[in-house]
Amino acid sequence: MKILVTGGAGFIGANFLNLLVPRHPEHSFVNFDALTYAANPRSLAELEGRKNYTFVRADLVDFEAVRAVFAQHRPEVVVHFAAESHVDRSIAGPRPFLRTNVEGTFNLLEACRELWPSGEGLLHHVSTDEVYGSLGPAGLFSEETKYDPSSPYSASKAASDHLVRAWGRTFGLPIKITNCSNNYGPLQFPEKLIPLMIQNLLERKPLPVYGKGENVRDWLFVGDHCEAIWAVVHKGRVGQTYNVGGRSEQRNLDVVKRLCAIVAEETGAREAELLDLVTYVKDRPGHDERYAIDARKIERELGWKPQETFATGLRRTVRWYLDHQDWVASVRTGEYRRWIEQNYGGR
Ligand code: NAD
Ligand code: TYD
Repeated sequence: MKILVTGGAGFIGANFLNLLVPRHPEHSFVNFDALTYAANPRSLAELEGRKNYTFVRADLVDFEAVRAVFAQHRPEVVVHFAAESHVDRSIAGPRPFLRTNVEGTFNLLEACRELWPSGEGLLHHVSTDEVYGSLGPAGLFSEETKYDPSSPYSASKAASDHLVRAWGRTFGLPIKITNCSNNYGPLQFPEKLIPLMIQNLLERKPLPVYGKGENVRDWLFVGDHCEAIWAVVHKGRVGQTYNVGGRSEQRNLDVVKRLCAIVAEETGAREAELLDLVTYVKDRPGHDERYAIDARKIERELGWKPQETFATGLRRTVRWYLDHQDWVASVRTGEYRRWIEQNYGGR
């Protein structure tokens, strides 16, 4: 099978490719990625030279570029990860979110429709639980929960979900959608809560907790999310949505405190000294209070369930960042941008 993955140089896409390319030599994978600030080609170093893996640097917003890649590679399955993904950036500047998440998804849908006029292929759209808005203290998001996004990021993802479903219903495009809760694990850009806190702990910088730190997120280890997507691609029903989550609800402050404890254990630092770094800062506008996923549909229909607990996954993640400070340095300095231009600029 020929599988085109968009956004495969980002956090979840790179974990997906690192897991599946070596495991499935019978499939060929094309990674279509614009290499924005959130991408790091180093995340894919182990795939270089593999016969069943190709990288293409291209921008989803450029429709002719998308068509050209489709014409050349003629994918049978497209797994669509590419997006602007950070809520705070969407508040500071929403335009790239509308462009990539809405217009980029539209371009991808049109390229799929052109390539598969009789509904031959499959577009799997990777989305978020943030499209459902905020929960109060009780309840879970199910596949039937009405959309009610709060941030420019979640509104742009909601728009993309609607486009994908409309192309399925109107044009008969074979589509599937997964809406997943917050991911964490190796290769996450250190702007998101968990890797940001790990880095700040290692550098003894303040740990900026928004508001009172009482907002709740349902955390899922990235490898479990990747397995869920693969299960839906293979066994999920066309036209359906599957919610994916870890049943691992945590208050932000508790996540930060657990990270203090793990980093103290792993590095020999004094836990009390690390806890002193917690700093309450101005809250995010429109900050959703709580997310929590009802994942019974994917569990029941496809037999998927998470393998990692929050305790084991968080320790694995801390160890990965401790062992990969060179990766962190490469995404945080200008060095990696120069490397991208040098290596991919002429392609
Ligand atoms: P990320 O920001 O780490 O990576 C995004 C990738 O998309 C990068 O490699 C970037 O270069 C690429 N990209 C961005 N704009 C592009 C464009 N115009 N053309 C081509 N490539 C482009 O994101 P992530 O955290 O890996 O998230 C991947 C997907 O999963 C997103 O669609 C996101 O909405 C969804 N999701 C993320 C989470 C999470 O917790 N991170 C949870 C649920 C769903
Ligand atoms: P984030 O990782 O940005 O994911 P999302 O906003 O998509 O859920 O943030 C997770 C939670 O952590 C969210 O409630 C905001 C909070 N947060 C902080 O308290 N401090 C921070 O520095 C960051 C980045 C997030």
